[in-house]
Amino acid sequence: MQILTKIEDLRKELSVFRRNGQRIGLVPTMGYLHAGHLSLVNVAKENADVVVMSIFVNPTQFGPNEDLARYPRDFARDERLARECGVDFIFYPEVPEMYPEPFFTYIVNEQMAQVLCGVSRQIHFRGVTTIVAKLFNIVQPDVAVFGQKDAQQAIIIRQMVADLNFPIRIIVAPTVRESDGLALSSRNVYLSPEERRQAPVIYSALTKARAAVRDGMNSATEINKLIRSTIATASLARIDYIEIVDDRTLTSVEIVEPGTFVAVAVYYGQTRLIDNIYLKER
Ligand code: PAJ
Repeated sequence: MQILTKIEDLRKELSVFRRNGQRIGLVPTMGYLHAGHLSLVNVAKENADVVVMSIFVNPTQFGPNEDLARYPRDFARDERLARECGVDFIFYPEVPEMYPEPFFTYIVNEQMAQVLCGVSRQIHFRGVTTIVAKLFNIVQPDVAVFGQKDAQQAIIIRQMVADLNFPIRIIVAPTVRESDGLALSSRNVYLSPEERRQAPVIYSALTKARAAVRDGMNSATEINKLIRSTIATASLARIDYIEIVDDRTLTSVEIVEPGTFVAVAVYYGQTRLIDNIYLKER
């Protein structure tokens, strides 16, 4: 495994593989790796000959009052996990390499960036689409793998790839969870022991909603109430949003249809956790 910090060096290395007709897979991350990230590497390995993982805590996707400064980092550990998992290249640039001054050009989804997480994180998805487009241009992968855990992000990236004709296949891999159902997230380390104890209520509420749909419930209002009342049983949980939406447009639905999923964001103290589940597959 090689670790490269410069765009030019990575391009040079990858051009050899590309010339030999080998498929390049990209797994973008912000590091502090967990089994969710590593599952994406495994999917990339199944669909490509060379796997590049980027590790970059992207400043443009953090709002002024968000956790950029204290976002967890441990490159030594990330390096070991990536190597064990079979990553071929880690791309680990510093901020000036990705955002040399001046930097003026952003990619913005005019429709889907201001709903769900975009309500409380106004500039977040603009930062995500911009950095992912930059990574796509730098790596020029054949496939790129993202997690269903961040459903809105994956949908916005699929839309960007379609809208801007990136010749890249996007694969969305299932959410990896702790044994009690909590979705793995780098931010779980922020939780106090009591918050951590209560956090699995999120996934319980989602699975309860899906079971209710299987039993015939189909009104978004009813499902929303069910999820709200389940999460409310956790004294430390504060609901940011519960939205029942279509997986192509991210617009709210009133009645569950194929492609409907529910997305939630819940605060425990300052820590904001997100999760989602399909109510009906497409
Ligand atoms: P990060 O939060 O590090 O996540 C990197 C990738 O891992 C994303 O595609 C995310 O959806 C996926 N992931 C996170 N937790 C997961 C879990 N429990 N199961 C499966 N996949 C999981 O998402 C970002 O970084 C950034 O926004 C990025 C796309 C790298 C752009 O900066």
